[in-house]
Amino acid sequence: MDSIAIQGGNRLNGTIPISGAKNSAIKLMAASILTDQPLLLTNMPRLADTKFLGQLLRQFGVEVTERDGADGQETLFHAREITSTFAPYDLVRQMRASFNVLGPLLARTGHAKVSLPGGCTIGARPVDLHLQALTALGAEIELDEGYVTASAPNGLTGAEIEFPFVSVGATEHALLAAVLATGTTVLRRAAREPEIGDLARCLVAMGAKIEGIDTDVLTITGVTALGGTTWSVIPDRIEMGSYAVAAAMAGGEVRLTRSRPGLIEALIARMVEAGVEVIPTEDGVIVRRDPAVRLKAVNVTTEVYPGFATDLQAQFMALMTLAEGESIIHENIFENRFMHAPELMRLGAEISVHAGEARVTGVEALHGAPVMATDLRASVCLVIAGLAARGETTIGRVYHLDRGFERLEEKLSACGADIRRIGGDGHEH
Ligand code: EPZ
Repeated sequence: MDSIAIQGGNRLNGTIPISGAKNSAIKLMAASILTDQPLLLTNMPRLADTKFLGQLLRQFGVEVTERDGADGQETLFHAREITSTFAPYDLVRQMRASFNVLGPLLARTGHAKVSLPGGCTIGARPVDLHLQALTALGAEIELDEGYVTASAPNGLTGAEIEFPFVSVGATEHALLAAVLATGTTVLRRAAREPEIGDLARCLVAMGAKIEGIDTDVLTITGVTALGGTTWSVIPDRIEMGSYAVAAAMAGGEVRLTRSRPGLIEALIARMVEAGVEVIPTEDGVIVRRDPAVRLKAVNVTTEVYPGFATDLQAQFMALMTLAEGESIIHENIFENRFMHAPELMRLGAEISVHAGEARVTGVEALHGAPVMATDLRASVCLVIAGLAARGETTIGRVYHLDRGFERLEEKLSACGADIRRIGGDGHEH
Protein backbone atom coordinates (compact mmCIF):
# COMPACT_ATOMS: atom_id res chain seq x y z
CA MET A 1 0.00 0.00 0.00
CA ASP A 2 1.32 3.44 -0.91
CA SER A 3 2.01 6.13 1.66
CA ILE A 4 2.89 9.80 1.36
CA ALA A 5 5.89 11.38 3.06
CA ILE A 6 5.96 15.12 3.66
CA GLN A 7 8.83 17.19 4.99
CA GLY A 8 6.91 20.08 6.49
CA GLY A 9 7.81 23.74 6.77
CA ASN A 10 8.06 24.89 3.14
CA ARG A 11 5.96 27.83 2.07
CA LEU A 12 3.76 27.29 -0.96
CA ASN A 13 4.27 29.63 -3.88
CA GLY A 14 2.92 29.08 -7.37
CA THR A 15 -0.14 28.18 -9.40
CA ILE A 16 -2.44 25.17 -9.05
CA PRO A 17 -4.94 24.38 -11.83
CA ILE A 18 -8.17 22.95 -10.40
CA SER A 19 -9.49 19.73 -11.97
CA GLY A 20 -13.06 18.82 -12.88
CA ALA A 21 -15.23 17.89 -9.89
CA LYS A 22 -15.32 14.23 -8.88
CA ASN A 23 -18.80 14.59 -7.41
CA SER A 24 -20.12 16.07 -10.61
CA ALA A 25 -18.26 13.75 -12.99
CA ILE A 26 -19.64 10.58 -11.44
CA LYS A 27 -23.25 11.80 -11.70
CA LEU A 28 -22.73 13.00 -15.27
CA MET A 29 -21.27 9.59 -16.10
CA ALA A 30 -24.46 7.94 -14.79
CA ALA A 31 -26.45 10.24 -17.10
CA SER A 32 -24.79 8.57 -20.09
CA ILE A 33 -27.01 5.52 -19.41
CA LEU A 34 -30.09 7.61 -20.30
CA THR A 35 -29.35 7.91 -24.02
CA ASP A 36 -28.23 5.75 -26.92
CA GLN A 37 -26.29 8.75 -28.22
CA PRO A 38 -22.69 9.65 -27.26
CA LEU A 39 -22.07 11.86 -24.24
CA LEU A 40 -18.66 13.54 -24.29
CA LEU A 41 -17.47 14.81 -20.91
CA THR A 42 -14.57 17.25 -21.06
CA ASN A 43 -12.49 18.57 -18.13
CA MET A 44 -12.75 15.01 -16.78
CA PRO A 45 -10.68 14.28 -13.70
CA ARG A 46 -8.72 11.01 -13.83
CA LEU A 47 -9.38 9.56 -10.40
CA ALA A 48 -9.81 6.14 -8.84
CA ASP A 49 -13.57 6.85 -8.51
CA THR A 50 -14.13 7.87 -12.14
CA LYS A 51 -12.07 4.91 -13.33
CA PHE A 52 -14.08 2.62 -11.13
CA LEU A 53 -17.45 3.92 -12.34
CA GLY A 54 -16.20 3.64 -15.92
CA GLN A 55 -15.64 -0.09 -15.29
CA LEU A 56 -19.15 -0.47 -13.90
CA LEU A 57 -20.65 1.33 -16.91
CA ARG A 58 -18.71 -0.94 -19.27
CA GLN A 59 -20.37 -3.86 -17.54
CA PHE A 60 -23.77 -2.44 -18.56
CA GLY A 61 -22.61 -2.28 -22.19
CA VAL A 62 -21.56 1.40 -22.23
CA GLU A 63 -18.52 2.13 -24.40
CA VAL A 64 -16.08 4.26 -22.42
CA THR A 65 -13.20 5.93 -24.25
CA GLU A 66 -10.68 8.08 -22.38
CA ARG A 67 -8.67 10.47 -24.52
CA ASP A 68 -6.81 13.77 -24.58
CA GLY A 69 -8.90 16.58 -26.00
CA ALA A 70 -8.25 20.19 -26.94
CA ASP A 71 -9.08 21.27 -23.38
CA GLY A 72 -7.34 18.48 -21.49
CA GLN A 73 -8.67 15.06 -20.56
CA GLU A 74 -12.03 13.96 -21.83
CA THR A 75 -14.06 10.76 -21.87
CA LEU A 76 -16.64 9.62 -24.39
CA PHE A 77 -19.53 7.50 -23.10
CA HIS A 78 -21.75 5.71 -25.56
CA ALA A 79 -24.59 3.57 -24.19
CA ARG A 80 -25.74 2.35 -27.63
CA GLU A 81 -27.38 -0.63 -26.01
CA ILE A 82 -27.74 -1.60 -22.36
CA THR A 83 -26.74 -5.25 -22.18
CA SER A 84 -26.90 -5.73 -18.40
CA THR A 85 -28.79 -3.95 -15.61
CA PHE A 86 -27.07 -5.69 -12.71
CA ALA A 87 -24.65 -3.94 -10.33
CA PRO A 88 -23.11 -6.44 -7.90
CA TYR A 89 -22.21 -5.78 -4.25
CA ASP A 90 -18.48 -6.08 -4.86
CA LEU A 91 -18.62 -3.09 -7.20
CA VAL A 92 -21.19 -0.91 -5.37
CA ARG A 93 -19.59 -1.24 -1.93
CA GLN A 94 -16.33 0.18 -3.30
CA MET A 95 -18.01 3.43 -4.26
CA ARG A 96 -21.36 4.39 -2.75
CA ALA A 97 -22.28 6.80 -5.51
CA SER A 98 -22.43 3.91 -7.98
CA PHE A 99 -25.79 3.13 -6.37
CA ASN A 100 -27.10 6.08 -8.42
CA VAL A 101 -27.01 3.98 -11.60
CA LEU A 102 -30.26 2.40 -10.38
CA GLY A 103 -32.50 5.31 -11.47
CA PRO A 104 -31.05 5.77 -14.98
CA LEU A 105 -31.00 2.01 -15.64
CA LEU A 106 -34.63 1.82 -14.57
CA ALA A 107 -35.63 4.87 -16.61
CA ARG A 108 -33.91 3.56 -19.74
CA THR A 109 -34.79 -0.16 -19.57
CA GLY A 110 -37.63 -0.55 -17.03
CA HIS A 111 -35.60 -2.82 -14.81
CA ALA A 112 -32.47 -2.89 -12.64
CA LYS A 113 -30.91 -4.88 -9.83
CA VAL A 114 -28.36 -2.93 -7.82
CA SER A 115 -26.68 -3.81 -4.55
CA LEU A 116 -27.39 -1.64 -1.51
CA PRO A 117 -24.19 0.25 -0.74
CA GLY A 118 -23.94 -0.46 3.00
CA GLY A 119 -22.55 1.95 5.59
CA CYS A 120 -19.27 3.81 5.44
CA THR A 121 -16.77 5.30 7.85
CA ILE A 122 -18.28 8.81 7.94
CA GLY A 123 -21.80 7.60 8.82
CA ALA A 124 -24.58 5.08 8.24
CA ARG A 125 -25.61 6.85 5.02
CA PRO A 126 -28.90 5.07 4.24
CA VAL A 127 -30.56 5.33 0.81
CA ASP A 128 -34.17 5.41 2.03
CA LEU A 129 -34.84 8.79 0.38
CA HIS A 130 -33.56 7.49 -2.96
CA LEU A 131 -35.91 4.52 -2.80
CA GLN A 132 -38.88 6.63 -1.69
CA ALA A 133 -38.35 8.93 -4.66
CA LEU A 134 -38.15 6.06 -7.14
CA THR A 135 -41.25 4.48 -5.59
CA ALA A 136 -43.11 7.80 -5.92
CA LEU A 137 -42.16 7.77 -9.61
CA GLY A 138 -43.96 4.44 -9.94
CA ALA A 139 -41.12 1.95 -9.57
CA GLU A 140 -41.83 -1.35 -7.86
CA ILE A 141 -39.01 -1.91 -5.43
CA GLU A 142 -38.06 -5.11 -3.65
CA LEU A 143 -35.26 -5.51 -1.16
CA ASP A 144 -33.78 -8.95 -0.95
CA GLU A 145 -30.42 -10.28 0.25
CA GLY A 146 -28.82 -6.86 0.13
CA TYR A 147 -30.07 -6.03 -3.34
CA VAL A 148 -32.64 -3.58 -4.65
CA THR A 149 -34.64 -4.93 -7.54
CA ALA A 150 -36.61 -2.19 -9.24
CA SER A 151 -39.01 -2.48 -12.11
CA ALA A 152 -41.24 -0.16 -14.08
CA PRO A 153 -42.18 -2.16 -17.17
CA ASN A 154 -44.43 0.60 -18.49
CA GLY A 155 -42.02 3.38 -17.62
CA LEU A 156 -41.88 5.84 -14.74
CA THR A 157 -44.56 8.45 -14.05
CA GLY A 158 -44.02 12.02 -12.86
CA ALA A 159 -44.84 12.77 -9.22
CA GLU A 160 -44.69 15.45 -6.52
CA ILE A 161 -41.85 14.56 -4.18
CA GLU A 162 -41.06 16.52 -1.05
CA PHE A 163 -37.84 15.33 0.57
CA PRO A 164 -38.02 15.33 4.40
CA PHE A 165 -34.52 16.86 4.49
CA VAL A 166 -31.92 17.85 1.93
CA SER A 167 -29.97 15.02 0.30
CA VAL A 168 -27.53 15.56 -2.54
CA GLY A 169 -27.60 11.93 -3.67
CA ALA A 170 -31.39 11.53 -3.49
CA THR A 171 -31.97 14.78 -5.41
CA GLU A 172 -29.59 13.68 -8.17
CA HIS A 173 -31.04 10.20 -8.25
CA ALA A 174 -34.62 11.46 -8.57
CA LEU A 175 -33.54 13.90 -11.29
CA LEU A 176 -31.78 11.16 -13.26
CA ALA A 177 -34.94 9.05 -13.17
CA ALA A 178 -37.57 11.77 -13.69
CA VAL A 179 -36.16 13.17 -16.94
CA LEU A 180 -37.52 10.15 -18.84
CA ALA A 181 -40.77 9.75 -16.84
CA THR A 182 -44.18 10.43 -18.33
CA GLY A 183 -45.55 13.75 -17.09
CA THR A 184 -44.25 16.30 -14.63
CA THR A 185 -42.20 15.72 -11.51
CA VAL A 186 -41.70 18.36 -8.83
CA LEU A 187 -38.83 17.88 -6.38
CA ARG A 188 -39.22 20.00 -3.24
CA ARG A 189 -36.49 20.61 -0.68
CA ALA A 190 -34.06 19.64 -3.42
CA ALA A 191 -30.34 20.03 -2.76
CA ARG A 192 -28.72 23.04 -4.46
CA GLU A 193 -25.10 21.93 -4.57
CA PRO A 194 -23.31 23.24 -7.69
CA GLU A 195 -22.80 19.65 -8.88
CA ILE A 196 -26.60 19.25 -9.07
CA GLY A 197 -26.82 22.38 -11.19
CA ASP A 198 -24.09 20.95 -13.41
CA LEU A 199 -25.96 17.66 -13.83
CA ALA A 200 -29.28 19.42 -14.50
CA ARG A 201 -27.72 21.73 -17.13
CA CYS A 202 -26.05 18.79 -18.86
CA LEU A 203 -29.39 16.93 -18.89
CA VAL A 204 -31.03 20.02 -20.43
CA ALA A 205 -28.30 20.03 -23.11
CA MET A 206 -29.25 16.39 -23.73
CA GLY A 207 -32.87 17.43 -24.29
CA ALA A 208 -34.38 17.23 -20.79
CA LYS A 209 -36.87 19.83 -19.57
CA ILE A 210 -35.92 21.10 -16.12
CA GLU A 211 -36.95 24.34 -14.43
CA GLY A 212 -35.73 25.82 -11.15
CA ILE A 213 -32.08 24.82 -11.59
CA ASP A 214 -29.99 26.04 -8.59
CA THR A 215 -33.14 26.44 -6.45
CA ASP A 216 -34.69 24.00 -3.98
CA VAL A 217 -37.68 23.26 -6.21
CA LEU A 218 -36.93 21.42 -9.44
CA THR A 219 -39.71 20.91 -11.98
CA ILE A 220 -39.02 18.24 -14.55
CA THR A 221 -41.22 17.59 -17.54
CA GLY A 222 -40.45 14.12 -18.80
CA VAL A 223 -39.38 13.55 -22.42
CA THR A 224 -39.47 10.29 -24.37
CA ALA A 225 -35.78 10.25 -25.29
CA LEU A 226 -32.58 12.14 -24.61
CA GLY A 227 -29.75 12.80 -27.05
CA GLY A 228 -26.01 13.16 -26.68
CA THR A 229 -24.03 16.31 -25.97
CA THR A 230 -20.58 17.61 -25.08
CA TRP A 231 -20.30 18.85 -21.51
CA SER A 232 -17.46 20.35 -19.51
CA VAL A 233 -17.39 19.13 -15.90
CA ILE A 234 -17.67 21.95 -13.35
CA PRO A 235 -14.45 22.74 -11.39
CA ASP A 236 -13.92 20.79 -8.17
CA ARG A 237 -14.81 23.17 -5.33
CA ILE A 238 -13.53 20.74 -2.70
CA GLU A 239 -10.15 20.40 -4.39
CA MET A 240 -10.06 24.21 -4.71
CA GLY A 241 -10.98 24.69 -1.05
CA SER A 242 -8.41 22.12 0.05
CA TYR A 243 -5.54 23.89 -1.73
CA ALA A 244 -6.77 27.26 -0.48
CA VAL A 245 -6.51 25.96 3.08
CA ALA A 246 -3.13 24.33 2.34
CA ALA A 247 -1.73 27.68 1.18
CA ALA A 248 -3.21 29.43 4.21
CA MET A 249 -1.73 26.90 6.59
CA ALA A 250 1.75 26.61 5.07
CA GLY A 251 1.98 30.32 4.21
CA GLY A 252 3.10 31.83 0.92
CA GLU A 253 1.08 32.82 -2.13
CA VAL A 254 -0.83 30.39 -4.33
CA ARG A 255 -3.01 31.17 -7.31
CA LEU A 256 -5.80 28.65 -7.95
CA THR A 257 -6.93 28.68 -11.57
CA ARG A 258 -9.44 27.01 -13.95
CA SER A 259 -12.22 27.50 -11.38
CA ARG A 260 -14.64 30.10 -9.97
CA PRO A 261 -14.36 31.93 -6.63
CA GLY A 262 -18.14 31.74 -6.10
CA LEU A 263 -17.92 27.97 -5.56
CA ILE A 264 -16.24 28.31 -2.15
CA GLU A 265 -17.76 31.53 -0.80
CA ALA A 266 -18.58 30.14 2.65
CA LEU A 267 -14.99 28.89 3.08
CA ILE A 268 -13.48 32.15 1.84
CA ALA A 269 -15.56 34.10 4.37
CA ARG A 270 -14.22 31.97 7.24
CA MET A 271 -10.64 32.13 5.99
CA VAL A 272 -10.78 35.91 5.73
CA GLU A 273 -12.25 36.07 9.24
CA ALA A 274 -9.30 33.96 10.44
CA GLY A 275 -6.86 36.43 8.89
CA VAL A 276 -6.01 34.90 5.49
CA GLU A 277 -5.85 37.14 2.46
CA VAL A 278 -8.05 35.75 -0.31
CA ILE A 279 -8.33 37.65 -3.58
CA PRO A 280 -10.95 36.50 -6.08
CA THR A 281 -9.76 36.41 -9.71
CA GLU A 282 -11.55 35.76 -12.98
CA ASP A 283 -10.91 32.02 -12.85
CA GLY A 284 -10.24 31.32 -9.19
CA VAL A 285 -8.56 32.94 -6.21
CA ILE A 286 -5.17 34.01 -4.90
CA VAL A 287 -4.52 32.90 -1.34
CA ARG A 288 -1.79 34.77 0.50
CA ARG A 289 -0.53 34.48 4.04
CA ASP A 290 2.53 35.53 6.00
CA PRO A 291 3.16 32.50 8.26
CA ALA A 292 4.83 34.74 10.87
CA VAL A 293 1.40 36.24 11.67
CA ARG A 294 -0.83 33.86 13.63
CA LEU A 295 -4.37 33.16 12.43
CA LYS A 296 -7.40 33.73 14.68
CA ALA A 297 -9.72 30.91 15.74
CA VAL A 298 -13.06 30.91 13.90
CA ASN A 299 -16.13 28.71 14.48
CA VAL A 300 -17.77 26.78 11.65
CA THR A 301 -20.93 24.74 11.23
CA THR A 302 -21.31 22.47 8.25
CA GLU A 303 -24.49 22.95 6.25
CA VAL A 304 -25.98 22.14 2.90
CA TYR A 305 -24.93 24.43 0.03
CA PRO A 306 -24.47 27.39 0.05
CA GLY A 307 -23.41 26.82 3.68
CA PHE A 308 -20.00 25.58 4.77
CA ALA A 309 -19.36 22.21 3.06
CA THR A 310 -18.93 19.10 5.17
CA ASP A 311 -16.32 18.03 2.61
CA LEU A 312 -14.14 20.98 3.76
CA GLN A 313 -14.62 20.50 7.49
CA ALA A 314 -11.55 18.31 8.04
CA GLN A 315 -9.31 20.72 6.11
CA PHE A 316 -10.59 23.71 8.08
CA MET A 317 -10.02 21.84 11.33
CA ALA A 318 -6.38 21.33 10.30
CA LEU A 319 -6.07 25.11 9.76
CA MET A 320 -7.58 25.84 13.17
CA THR A 321 -5.03 23.63 14.96
CA LEU A 322 -2.50 26.47 14.55
CA ALA A 323 -4.88 29.41 15.10
CA GLU A 324 -4.88 31.51 18.22
CA GLY A 325 -7.77 30.64 20.56
CA GLU A 326 -10.51 28.02 20.52
CA SER A 327 -12.49 27.09 17.44
CA ILE A 328 -15.78 25.20 17.71
CA ILE A 329 -16.61 23.03 14.74
CA HIS A 330 -20.11 21.58 14.35
CA GLU A 331 -20.65 18.72 11.92
CA ASN A 332 -24.31 18.69 10.91
CA ILE A 333 -24.35 16.45 7.85
CA PHE A 334 -22.65 13.19 8.85
CA GLU A 335 -22.68 11.68 12.33
CA ASN A 336 -19.16 10.27 12.40
CA ARG A 337 -17.02 12.71 10.50
CA PHE A 338 -14.31 13.57 13.02
CA MET A 339 -12.01 10.61 12.51
CA HIS A 340 -9.25 12.95 11.42
CA ALA A 341 -9.23 14.56 14.90
CA PRO A 342 -7.25 11.79 16.66
CA GLU A 343 -4.82 11.73 13.71
CA LEU A 344 -4.30 15.51 13.94
CA MET A 345 -3.68 15.02 17.66
CA ARG A 346 -0.82 12.67 16.77
CA LEU A 347 0.78 15.74 15.14
CA GLY A 348 0.35 17.71 18.37
CA ALA A 349 -3.07 19.31 17.83
CA GLU A 350 -5.35 19.91 20.82
CA ILE A 351 -8.86 18.75 19.98
CA SER A 352 -11.75 17.38 22.00
CA VAL A 353 -14.74 15.79 20.31
CA HIS A 354 -18.21 15.35 21.82
CA ALA A 355 -20.95 14.03 19.54
CA GLY A 356 -21.23 16.41 16.58
CA GLU A 357 -18.93 19.09 18.00
CA ALA A 358 -15.15 19.43 17.99
CA ARG A 359 -13.28 22.04 20.03
CA VAL A 360 -9.88 22.90 18.66
CA THR A 361 -7.44 24.85 20.82
CA GLY A 362 -4.73 26.29 18.60
CA VAL A 363 -1.12 25.34 19.36
CA GLU A 364 2.09 27.14 18.36
CA ALA A 365 3.33 24.34 16.11
CA LEU A 366 2.56 20.84 14.86
CA HIS A 367 5.22 18.13 14.73
CA GLY A 368 5.49 15.46 12.02
CA ALA A 369 4.44 11.88 12.86
CA PRO A 370 3.11 8.79 11.11
CA VAL A 371 -0.68 9.09 10.65
CA MET A 372 -3.42 7.14 8.91
CA ALA A 373 -5.96 8.38 6.36
CA THR A 374 -9.49 7.28 7.24
CA ASP A 375 -11.51 8.73 4.37
CA LEU A 376 -11.01 10.96 1.36
CA ARG A 377 -11.37 14.43 2.88
CA ALA A 378 -9.72 13.34 6.14
CA SER A 379 -6.66 12.23 4.18
CA VAL A 380 -6.19 15.62 2.51
CA CYS A 381 -6.53 17.33 5.90
CA LEU A 382 -3.54 15.26 7.06
CA VAL A 383 -1.57 16.31 3.97
CA ILE A 384 -2.37 19.96 4.73
CA ALA A 385 -1.34 19.59 8.37
CA GLY A 386 1.82 17.73 7.33
CA LEU A 387 2.84 20.61 5.05
CA ALA A 388 2.81 22.98 8.02
CA ALA A 389 4.20 20.57 10.64
CA ARG A 390 7.85 20.57 11.68
CA GLY A 391 9.70 17.46 10.50
CA GLU A 392 8.38 14.47 8.59
CA THR A 393 4.77 13.28 8.40
CA THR A 394 3.96 9.99 6.72
CA ILE A 395 0.37 9.26 5.76
CA GLY A 396 -0.78 5.68 5.31
CA ARG A 397 -3.77 4.35 3.31
CA VAL A 398 -3.43 7.03 0.65
CA TYR A 399 -5.74 5.10 -1.66
CA HIS A 400 -8.43 7.26 -0.02
CA LEU A 401 -6.68 10.32 -1.46
CA ASP A 402 -6.46 8.82 -4.93
CA ARG A 403 -10.26 8.55 -5.03
CA GLY A 404 -10.67 12.31 -5.23
CA PHE A 405 -7.45 14.30 -5.74
CA GLU A 406 -5.85 14.30 -9.14
CA ARG A 407 -2.03 14.45 -9.21
CA LEU A 408 -1.92 15.86 -5.69
CA GLU A 409 1.83 15.41 -5.12
CA GLU A 410 2.61 16.95 -8.51
CA LYS A 411 0.39 19.99 -7.91
CA LEU A 412 1.81 20.65 -4.43
CA SER A 413 5.45 19.98 -5.43
CA ALA A 414 5.10 22.55 -8.20
CA CYS A 415 4.45 25.12 -5.44
CA GLY A 416 7.51 24.11 -3.44
CA ALA A 417 6.12 21.41 -1.13
CA ASP A 418 8.43 18.55 -0.18
CA ILE A 419 6.00 15.68 -0.74
CA ARG A 420 6.73 12.21 -2.09
CA ARG A 421 4.82 9.01 -2.62
CA ILE A 422 6.35 5.83 -1.22
CA GLY A 423 5.15 2.59 -2.84
CA GLY A 424 4.20 -0.49 -0.84
CA ASP A 425 7.65 -1.81 -1.83
CA GLY A 426 9.24 1.05 0.16
CA HIS A 427 10.48 2.86 -2.98
CA GLU A 428 9.79 6.45 -3.88
CA HIS A 429 7.47 7.19 -6.81
C1 EPZ B 1 -22.70 13.70 -1.32
O1 EPZ B 1 -22.95 12.53 -0.57
C2 EPZ B 1 -21.21 13.71 -1.62
N1 EPZ B 1 -20.87 12.52 -2.38
C3 EPZ B 1 -20.42 13.75 -0.32
O2 EPZ B 1 -19.04 13.82 -0.63
C4 EPZ B 1 -20.82 14.98 0.47
O3 EPZ B 1 -20.17 14.97 1.70
C5 EPZ B 1 -22.34 14.99 0.67
O4 EPZ B 1 -23.03 14.88 -0.59
C6 EPZ B 1 -22.84 16.24 1.36
O5 EPZ B 1 -22.47 17.37 0.63
C7 EPZ B 1 -21.03 12.50 -3.68
O6 EPZ B 1 -21.49 13.46 -4.30
C8 EPZ B 1 -20.60 11.28 -4.38
P1 EPZ B 1 -26.42 13.30 1.16
P2 EPZ B 1 -24.44 11.99 -0.42
O7 EPZ B 1 -27.38 12.35 0.53
O8 EPZ B 1 -25.19 12.27 -1.63
C9 EPZ B 1 -28.50 11.25 5.01
C10 EPZ B 1 -16.81 13.02 -0.72
O9 EPZ B 1 -15.87 12.94 0.10
N2 EPZ B 1 -29.30 10.47 4.05
O10 EPZ B 1 -26.63 14.76 0.96
O11 EPZ B 1 -24.35 10.60 0.08
C11 EPZ B 1 -27.03 10.88 4.95
O12 EPZ B 1 -26.75 9.75 5.74
C12 EPZ B 1 -18.22 12.66 -0.32
O13 EPZ B 1 -16.64 13.35 -1.91
C13 EPZ B 1 -30.33 9.65 4.53
O14 EPZ B 1 -30.56 9.55 5.74
O15 EPZ B 1 -24.93 12.94 0.78
C14 EPZ B 1 -26.38 12.16 5.45
O16 EPZ B 1 -26.38 12.16 6.86
C15 EPZ B 1 -18.30 12.20 1.11
N3 EPZ B 1 -31.09 8.95 3.63
C16 EPZ B 1 -27.29 13.25 4.92
O17 EPZ B 1 -28.52 12.60 4.60
C17 EPZ B 1 -30.86 9.03 2.28
O18 EPZ B 1 -31.57 8.35 1.51
C18 EPZ B 1 -26.79 13.97 3.68
O19 EPZ B 1 -26.39 13.01 2.72
C19 EPZ B 1 -29.83 9.87 1.80
C20 EPZ B 1 -29.07 10.58 2.70
